[in-house]
Amino acid sequence: MKTAFLFSVHFSLLVFVHCYGGNGYDPLETALNIQRSKRSQSAYHVSNQDSRADQNSYSPVYVGSQDGLKDFDKISALPGEPAGTDFDQYSGYVTVEPNHGRALFYYFTESPSNSSTNPLVLWLNGVANVLFLESPAGVGFSYSNTSSDYITGDIQTAKDSYTFLVNWLERFPEYKTRDFYITGESYAGHYVPELAQLILQNNKITNQTVINLKGIALGNAYVDDETENTGMFDYFWTHAIISDEIHEGIVSNCNFSEAAPSTAVCHNYVQQAYAAKSNIYFYDIYAPLCSSSSNSTPSISGFDPCTEYYILAYLNTPAVQQSLHARPVQWESCNDFILEHWQDMPFTVLPVGGYVVGYENLTFVTIRGAGHFVPSYQPARGLAFFSSFLEGKLP
Ligand SMILES: *[C@@H]1O[C@H](CO)[C@@H](O)[C@H](O)[C@H]1NC(C)=O
Ligand SMILES: *[C@@H]1O[C@H](CO)[C@@H](O)[C@H](O)[C@H]1NC(C)=O
Ligand SMILES: *[C@@H]1O[C@H](CO)[C@@H](O)[C@H](O)[C@H]1NC(C)=O
Ligand SMILES: *[C@@H]1O[C@H](CO)[C@@H](O)[C@H](O)[C@H]1NC(C)=O
Ligand SMILES: *[C@@H]1O[C@H](CO)[C@@H](O)[C@H](O)[C@H]1NC(C)=O
Repeated sequence: MKTAFLFSVHFSLLVFVHCYGGNGYDPLETALNIQRSKRSQSAYHVSNQDSRADQNSYSPVYVGSQDGLKDFDKISALPGEPAGTDFDQYSGYVTVEPNHGRALFYYFTESPSNSSTNPLVLWLNGVANVLFLESPAGVGFSYSNTSSDYITGDIQTAKDSYTFLVNWLERFPEYKTRDFYITGESYAGHYVPELAQLILQNNKITNQTVINLKGIALGNAYVDDETENTGMFDYFWTHAIISDEIHEGIVSNCNFSEAAPSTAVCHNYVQQAYAAKSNIYFYDIYAPLCSSSSNSTPSISGFDPCTEYYILAYLNTPAVQQSLHARPVQWESCNDFILEHWQDMPFTVLPVGGYVVGYENLTFVTIRGAGHFVPSYQPARGLAFFSSFLEGKLP
């Protein structure tokens, strides 16, 4: 793997947009709270070593017949699609565990030009062939016929994503040897390195498809709980969201290291900080909130804060679900049950003994004027960044 990019503001992932802010979803804050509460339970400790131990052994993953499925997945047209759409689109399910009936849903757009040579990117929009994956099963259109599969975690998510890729590459064999990149934002700070790690490890020993992983990009990612917490409260303070007193209370009383127990006095200051943040939009603090009753204040970036509701309505339109080859279900981008029952979430995915994702060639990019979702708020700058990433150049 050649490169890893971190960029300090988020890419938009179509299927994640609705997850944030609206409908009471706030998965990142929920994840932080889960980790915080774990620190007070000494019984709970999934160390990085423990959680990855079984990744040292390899057994071939399930590969189903993909004959004819690519043609079946071709989207003829999406309802409301703008005229002149000049790229091919596919979507459908890839079974990752036939005995449980577990399948992941993907949406794939091919580059309008040079699609036969451009790299393959797992999951964000840009100058490439882009594969969006709804993961884990239970999120979006991805599902399992075995409800206990919805009690899952980081390890199972990486394994399923890997099995998905091996099968998807059977369905689209022309992409088997193509340069491949994985990108994501937010909690994908766990998903992306964990999947990259699994790919690199399996590539050495597999007798199945070797995935030609070239790099990863993470947007505003949750990679390390301690720096996430420290950085978040510093950010609140330096952006005048919390007072000097609350910040000082956190700095003097909180130790966010995994080994340190959480204390009542720290918890109290953290609660005060969240209370002071109030309903400021966590993921783009200068954005207005979506308001149905009045014309909300225009966003400084021109982004419509109600976008997530349009996506929700669109993806729940029967004709759209039909065009996407999706099952007729109520689509939601977040699944609270899954989040609340998450089994394993290491405090950090930064390298520890035996962890091989290369961080030496790491570039950190800040995109001006963008909040949590770069292509939503700063599409042109997001595209410039992304093109540079694929060319291995600085933006
Ligand atoms: C789940 O069950 C339904 C109904 O039996 C079946 O049509 C579908 O193929 C199953 N899904 C998977 C991934 O096996
Ligand atoms: C397609 O590839 C050719 C050859 O590498 C290049 O000259 C051309 O600029 C590419 N087209 C686009 C739109 O990127
Ligand atoms: C791959 O190796 C496994 C044992 O690890 C074996 O069962 C399987 O048949 C092999 N597959 C191929 C395609 O060689
Ligand atoms: C935080 O706690 C860890 C583990 O107990 C300890 O090693 C570290 O020194 C503490 N940090 C500070 C600033 O006290
Ligand atoms: C970093 O990049 C250089 C140049 O491409 C390469 O030689 C080196 O092996 C890379 N380091 C890692 C850890 O991937």
